[in-house]
Formats: sequence, structure tokens, C-alpha cells
Amino acid sequence: MDAEEHERRADDNRSAWARTHADGLRRADKTTAPIIYPPTEPIDRDLHLWDTWLLRTRDGSIAEIDGYRVIFALTAPSHLLPGKRHDVATIRYFYSRDGREWTTGGEVFAGSDPLGSRQWAGSAMYDTDSETLYAYYTAAGHRDEAELSYSQRLAVGAGGTVETDEEGFEISGPWEHRVLLEADGEQYETAAQSRGMIYTFRDPWFFEDETGTYLLFEANTPVPPESTACGGDADQQAFNGAIGIATSPTGDPTAFERCPPILTAVCVNQELERPHLVVRDDRVYLFVSSHQHTFAPGIDGFDALYGFVSDSVFGPYEPLNGTGLVATNPANAPFQAYSWLVYDHGDELLVNSFFNYYDFDRPTLDDVAALPESEQQRRFGGTPAPTLRLGLSDTETRILGSLDHGHLPLPREPLPGSPFATAERDDAGGKYY
Ligand code: FRU
Repeated sequence: MDAEEHERRADDNRSAWARTHADGLRRADKTTAPIIYPPTEPIDRDLHLWDTWLLRTRDGSIAEIDGYRVIFALTAPSHLLPGKRHDVATIRYFYSRDGREWTTGGEVFAGSDPLGSRQWAGSAMYDTDSETLYAYYTAAGHRDEAELSYSQRLAVGAGGTVETDEEGFEISGPWEHRVLLEADGEQYETAAQSRGMIYTFRDPWFFEDETGTYLLFEANTPVPPESTACGGDADQQAFNGAIGIATSPTGDPTAFERCPPILTAVCVNQELERPHLVVRDDRVYLFVSSHQHTFAPGIDGFDALYGFVSDSVFGPYEPLNGTGLVATNPANAPFQAYSWLVYDHGDELLVNSFFNYYDFDRPTLDDVAALPESEQQRRFGGTPAPTLRLGLSDTETRILGSLDHGHLPLPREPLPGSPFATAERDDAGGKYY
């Protein structure tokens, strides 16, 4: 399916994450991650670090520049209460030669004036032909606003440059900041239209393959008052998460045109966060993170990685494992990790996330605020979580184990003790089970 056909399709043909899928959400061995213990040393004691993304090249490979791989992450000073971090989020980069030891590089946009009063999650692309960096981000709020607002726009900093030597890796400008997309009110809800909790229009994710150049993002889909979705129940309809897409007809990574969403979750979930794609065996795998407390009333979901599969970027998508659940936290540590990001390692998929609240098994993340401040600090990880290893066979996944905190191997680096380290991948599937 191409962009035009996607546009022509009637709304009711569009892929949906439906209640019939989400009603089946249960923890199972294959979807439950091992318990996480704190690392001996966090990535940087002075910083809280959460949403993280790898610097990739145009074709989606992990960029390796003069032997360095690079992650970008949302960060805040670690003396702040973890709950306050979203209000001051700053994108910093970290670099590594082995994917295990990470060195703090600094603020990605140092010396320039990024859009928004703070910057939320995005993605990063290094164009090897022009040796230019494109750093996509969410402009949250507006520069110099007197009071913090929750407006969200998709933005890019274009023109970044990279220098490396024996000592390290450095990103500098000149950055040109530009808004790529704003919610229009018809395909994507504006903040003013929102009747639900936690409005979303954020997390731009650059993706290119032979079918085109795309930007995926987290959004909400407008639900008109006369909608009959879930029997016309307005309380349920207030949960209206969507995964948006925009295309760049010329391949220009700084100019995108809005298209209708590729997946909606009306009456199911409000936040489909950090959407991203992995292409395997000609099938397109779409992953998002979501929270237990953003499911519509009556659905018992989890803080978890959810996934969907299709033959085309535009869908239609079907949920992996029947319900969409791919990886969640164990029942006795339900908020230990969040904000999962999947990449293809070859035999297995690897999943980065951040170490969130541990030693905390209250029913909801909202209860964190009831803890004394010292406990809020002590129980927040604020550093990368152990990398999950995931087996994938067509529409089914299975957690196979985990690597160390923040260990992000390249596809050419064999995984420790992998039963598949030396074996050829069985493209017919089935081998992992
Ligand atoms: C996920 C998330 C992102 C957002 C960021 C803000 O953890 O909600 O969607 O960009 O956190 O801190």
C-alpha cells in the first residue's frame, strides 16, 4: 500500500488496536522480563537519563562513526525529583566504542536555541553522504514561555556535524531548528480538542526504506461527539491514542507531509509512545510503549512494549502475540523499566529501555508521588536498563533473556552465550520455540 491508497481508505478500514485484542492482555513467561537490579555504576551519576535512541544512518543501520556508536537520551540533573524531569528535559549524547561503556558527550544542541521550553523524545539520523546529523525531537512548550505549557510539535535540528579522535566523539552545530508538523485537528487531535488525560503529539521517528521516507509519531485521533465507538461511551472514547505518519515525497529529511494515522486505539489506550519500525523478512514490525494507567477503563494492561505486524508501512497491522503485548515488567516490579526501543540484531531483536522505578510494587505509578522525596529518588533508576533479547517468529515473540544495563551490541557482535551465535537464522521461523 502506498500513501495515496492509505489516504483513500475509509476510516473504518484503518488498523485498530481493539478492545477484543486488549481484553486478552495477561502476563506470560514469554512476555515477562527478568527482574532488574541496580547497576554497580549508573551511566552518569549527575544525570537522570530516560528515553534513549541510537544514532542511525538513513537506511536504519546503527551508525558507526570512526569506531564510535552513539546514543541520544533525555536527561535532567539527578538532584531533581524524578517526577520533575519532564519539565527540564534536555537531549544529551553518549558515545561508546564497545556498546558497554558509555561516555557522556554533552548537550546535543549546545550553542543553539532548540524549539520549545524543553525537548522531548525523538530520533537521530546521520547522513553518511553529506556527513550531516538530523536530530528529530519534540518541541514541548514554547521558548521563553512564562508558564510551562504542554503544547507539542514535531521538530528537527538539521546540520549537525561530528568530529572524532582518539580521545572521543564530539557533536557540534550549526543547527537549524525547524517545526516539521503540528496537529491539524482533523487527522490529529489538537490540545484544545483533547478530552482525555495526557494529550500527545510527539516522538518523531525517522524511517526510510525502498518504499519511501517517513516520520512516525505518537498522537491522538479526534473522536467526534456523535461517534458510536464503544457504544457511544464518552468515558471510553476519551482514550484515543494513535500512531501518526508523515511522508517526505522528495526524500528531504526536513520536509514532511501529514498522512492519516496508521493505527488507532480508540476506547483502548491514550498513549502509544515512541512508535518505531523494524523490518524483518519483508514484514514491517511496529513497536510502541504504553502505560498501565493509560488504558481505557476496564482494560488491565501493563507498562509494556507492544507490537504489531503488517506487510506494509501503512498497514493493516495485526497485534503480535494476539494482544499486542511483547514485553512487560514482572508482577512484583511492575514499573522497573519503560520506553522500550527495538532494533534488529540479526538472529534476535534487542530492546533498550531505561531503568525506571524499582523496589516499588504499588498498583499505579501515580503512587510514586505519595512516597517521601528521598524514596522517590532512591527508587528511580534513571539509567539504561538491561537490554532485552527477543526471539521473533512471524507474529509471535518470546523474551530470551537479557544483557547488561545499557549493553547495545552491533549486529556483527555476537551475543554472549547465544544459542544462535554461530547458527544461521532459520528464515522459516519456528527455531526459537
Ligand atoms: C515516554 C515519554 C515520551 C516523551 C517523554 C517526555 O517516556 O512520555 O513520549 O517524549 O517521555 O519525557
